[in-house]
Parts: sequence; C-alpha cells; structure tokens
Amino acid sequence: MNRNIFKNCKRLAIMGGTFDPIHYGHLVAAEAAFHKFNLDKVVFMPAGNPVFKKGTRVADKESRFIMTYLAVLENEHFDVSRIEIEREGDTYTIDTIEQVKKLCDPDTKLYFITGADAISYIFSWKEPVRLVSMCEFIAVTRPGYKNCKLFDNIEKLSDKYKNRIHYMEIPALSISSTEIRQRVKHDYPIKYLLPDNVISYIEKTGLYKEEALSREEIMMDFETMRQKLQSSLYIKRYIHTLGVVEEAEKLAKIYGNEITVEKAKIAALLHDCAKDYPTELKMRFCKEYHVYLDEIMKENTDLIHSFLGAEVAKREYLVKDDEILDAIRFHTTGRKNMTLLEKIVFIADFTEKGRKPFDGLEEARRLSYIDINMALTYILECVIEHVKSKGRALHPLSCEALEYYKNK
Ligand SMILES: [Fe+2]
Ligand SMILES: [Fe+2]
Repeated sequence: MNRNIFKNCKRLAIMGGTFDPIHYGHLVAAEAAFHKFNLDKVVFMPAGNPVFKKGTRVADKESRFIMTYLAVLENEHFDVSRIEIEREGDTYTIDTIEQVKKLCDPDTKLYFITGADAISYIFSWKEPVRLVSMCEFIAVTRPGYKNCKLFDNIEKLSDKYKNRIHYMEIPALSISSTEIRQRVKHDYPIKYLLPDNVISYIEKTGLYKEEALSREEIMMDFETMRQKLQSSLYIKRYIHTLGVVEEAEKLAKIYGNEITVEKAKIAALLHDCAKDYPTELKMRFCKEYHVYLDEIMKENTDLIHSFLGAEVAKREYLVKDDEILDAIRFHTTGRKNMTLLEKIVFIADFTEKGRKPFDGLEEARRLSYIDINMALTYILECVIEHVKSKGRALHPLSCEALEYYKNK
C-alpha cells in the first residue's frame, strides 16, 4: 500500500463516495467514465468522515475500505486509496484533491467522479471555484434524474468553469447502497447488486444486520422507494402516483395522526407499483409470490395489479407493515370494514388532482374533506357504475363494500 498509485498517469480520475457498501452502480459508473474520458486509471477514494452525512449512520471506515478494495481487485485500471480514510477529522474534497495533486506527475489531468447529489453538496461547501480550477468533475446519476440543486450551483460558476463539469447518466445507478443495507437487514437477497466477494465480506462480518430503524431511515426509505418506483412506472403513472401521495397525505392529516400520514404516503406511493409490469411478468410474479387469482380477476385483469402490488411492495420494497400492504391490496376493489389507511388510499386514487375531470369527481373531492365514509360510499357507487357500463366483471368485494357502507 506504500506504492504511489497516482504516478505515471496522463489522465487520472478519483472516484469519491462513501461506498457503504460499494455496488455495481459505482463500478459501472467508473468504467463508463474510464472509457468516455480516455482515462489511464480510476482511483476509488472511500470517504473518511463525510461532512454531508453527519448525523446518519455510516459503516466504519475500515470496513468500507476493505469492501472497496475487494470490489476493484479484478479490474487492472482500478485502484483504491486510503488518503481520506487516514485523514483525521472531517472530509473535504478540496483537501483530498490538493493532496492527490502533490502525488501526481505535474502534467496529470485530474478528474473527480461522484454522484450528482454529492457534487451539489461539494459546491455549496468549500471554495467551489478553486475546486473546479484544480480538476474537472464528472457528475454521475441514474437516467431521468435531474438534480436541480447541482444545476443551480453550476449556474453560479462563470462560463470558464462551467464546461469543466461533465454529466453522465448511468442506468446501473438505480441500485442504491441504502437499499442494499435495508435488504441485508431484512434477509432479502443482494446477489447481482454487488460483487460476490463483497457480499461474502458483509455476510462474514454481519455488517448492516444490527442497524436500528431510526426515524431518518424511515424517511430515507420513502426516498429510496420513490427512486426505485420511478424506474418501474411509465411517466404518466408516476405522475398519477405523486398526485395520490399528495392527496393521501392531505386526507391522513385530516382524519389520522402523524403515523397515519407516514403510512399513507408509503401506501399511496406503492399502490400502483405493479401496474405497468407487462402481463406475462404479472402472471409470473403472481405464481412466484403465491397471489391467488379468482375467476373475476382472471376476467378483469385490471384488478390483478393491486393484489400483486401488495406482494411486490413486501418483497421488492421491503414493506413489512400489514396495514400499508392491505391498503395497496384493496385499493381497486375496496372491501367491507376498511381501515382508515385503506379508505385514504382508495379515495386519493380516485380524487388526486391529476385526474381528468369526469362526472362525480368534484363531488367525491368535496365529500372526502368532510366525511370519509360518505366519500367512500359515493366513490364505490361511481366505480361500480363505471365497471358495469364497460361490461367488465364486478368483484364481489366491491359489492360487499358498497352494501356495508350504504347501511352504515
Ligand atoms: Fe391502481
Ligand atoms: Fe392508481
């Protein structure tokens, strides 16, 4: 580890990150940058005590270093540095770059690769102009993710420096370290998300098993889920989903407490998570996840996505809360004696602000803010009428629900 890994390179990139843990998204991003910028080497630089992650739990730096070391072993133009790991105190990118510059040959062209989010932080922290004058930046992000904060910060720089910041979309960056940690914690598979030798290390050391589920993590979970969901829905459905989240949050604030609000947002976010799967995939998952399809569902396949969605939420989004899962499961049919959360998602799905105007929409919205059961009954009537008019099969759960709430 004493050799100077920064020597003898004309074009060198530092890949910054917490790597908690490192995964294929990071490796694919580094490899893509290697080719696009014609680099001689990419040096991974696990952060010591990242300033922007203060207050959140990060695995100890030696473990993160070892995982990064294992992950880059097989790639001859990748290497890993201990510079940040060994530095005492907080980690600032500018200090790292200064140190690396001293170790490089004088004519080495230096790049710094990191996530677009992290770059926005770096530019809002310490001496951005001096930073960009020392090296060029490569902001990597998953497709379709426009980081406004980054663009705002870039806008503040003069034209001379703007073109020293490059932007690369990397599809594999949909994988997230947060999700991997959650998967380990809940015993879900992580194979194919990160190298096998890193997985063995995590298993051997028991890393990520013991993390307590703090409030921040629940919030972070929502964000992770949102990112994951975005890549599995058509844009129209994704926009509809965000509308349902907003409306569900509003209703939860009226009729529930703080916990209802948190749960309603997650249930609303995931209510259509399986809706855009191609039919064959829906059927395959129904089999795999033991989703029972009755005759009506086989006939009216539009109903499948809610029952399957609950299983997808459980297995793919790691939702364990039965109340949330039921709100997803019954959001299309309804049922008698629904929980508050089920009612909220059922109603919000119908009344969200993105819905094109149709008969009954305004009335349903108006009722939803005054009497949740009246709104529910009204919407059940509308839905049943609509299904009948289309000549589609009506699910008995919906009929039971209407009967139940009409007589309440
Ligand atoms: Fe739906
Ligand atoms: Fe929906």
